[in-house]
Amino acid sequence: MNELRKSERRKIIIDTDPGQDDAAAIMMAFGSPDELDILGLTVVAGNVPLAMTERNARLLAELCGRPDIAIYAGADAPLKRPLVTAEHVHGKTGLDGPDWPEPQMQLAPGHAVDFIVETLKREAPGTVTLCTLGPLTNIALAFQKAPEIVPLIREIVMMGGGFFEGGNITPTAEFNVFVDPEAADIVFRAGAPIVMMPLDVTHKVLTHKARVEKLRALGTKPAQAMVAMLQFFERFDAEKYGSDGAPLHDPTVIAYLLRPDLFKGRRCNVEVEVTSPLTVGMTVVDWWQVTDRKHNALVMRDIDDDGFFALLTERIGRLQ
Ligand code: BDR
Ligand code: CA
Repeated sequence: MNELRKSERRKIIIDTDPGQDDAAAIMMAFGSPDELDILGLTVVAGNVPLAMTERNARLLAELCGRPDIAIYAGADAPLKRPLVTAEHVHGKTGLDGPDWPEPQMQLAPGHAVDFIVETLKREAPGTVTLCTLGPLTNIALAFQKAPEIVPLIREIVMMGGGFFEGGNITPTAEFNVFVDPEAADIVFRAGAPIVMMPLDVTHKVLTHKARVEKLRALGTKPAQAMVAMLQFFERFDAEKYGSDGAPLHDPTVIAYLLRPDLFKGRRCNVEVEVTSPLTVGMTVVDWWQVTDRKHNALVMRDIDDDGFFALLTERIGRLQ
């Protein structure tokens, strides 16, 4: 790869709590080396406790032939609340489905929050994108520790929240925001440019049987593992929503980096409910611009779902 090409690659940190849909996002990113320069993976507690999410991140790096990638363990609990997990969706390990080996690679030394802070300070200002696929605890901790990094961020592209679709863990709250609403509140108030992939988008991206069959037809080991993960993951959501397949939330973040034209949304103000017992974790989106609150996010609402699955399949197909 020549130097020009290298400098065009978008530098990203993926903050994640894998999770089968996190796995799809991570695999999609590993399958896109021409466009994405993955500086590291930072792991957070969310779908399952940290001991499992960091293990899962290592398993995925090895599955994709990338044991060289730096994986940092981060926060093992939300800022102010006990951890809520989602084994009912993702299984006991968080990555149920395939028969996984024990991971061989080690975690990188140091804490995820320090890695985020140091990386943003080291790289040229405005060049690093944070891709967040789980609760926002690590990002909020980094902002609290070193507020001077906020203006250095190119963009935060996050899976989180929901508005027109309501919630998936309570009637009004989406899981990632619900688990650590105080962290989400810090991130939305910080002033960094945010692109938000809410349930309004991710509920339009369903793992229809025909789509999963296209992944299966790739025949590679990573694709087979993906299919086994999706088949486990689907059983809960397909029953819950009565749909053909489950919403594949997290890879919308990576798809946006590769093909922003697949998405439609608008700039809005988003605030997070942190007190009401009834609606805690709700993302209140001023979609109709009925307040004069400052726009702080590009909130997506629509996606070309066929285009998205074609891209996902193509990128996972590049992994051997
Ligand atoms: C989000 O919650 C998790 O269960 C998924 O991995 C995704 O990040 C969807 O609400
Ligand atoms: Ca996730």
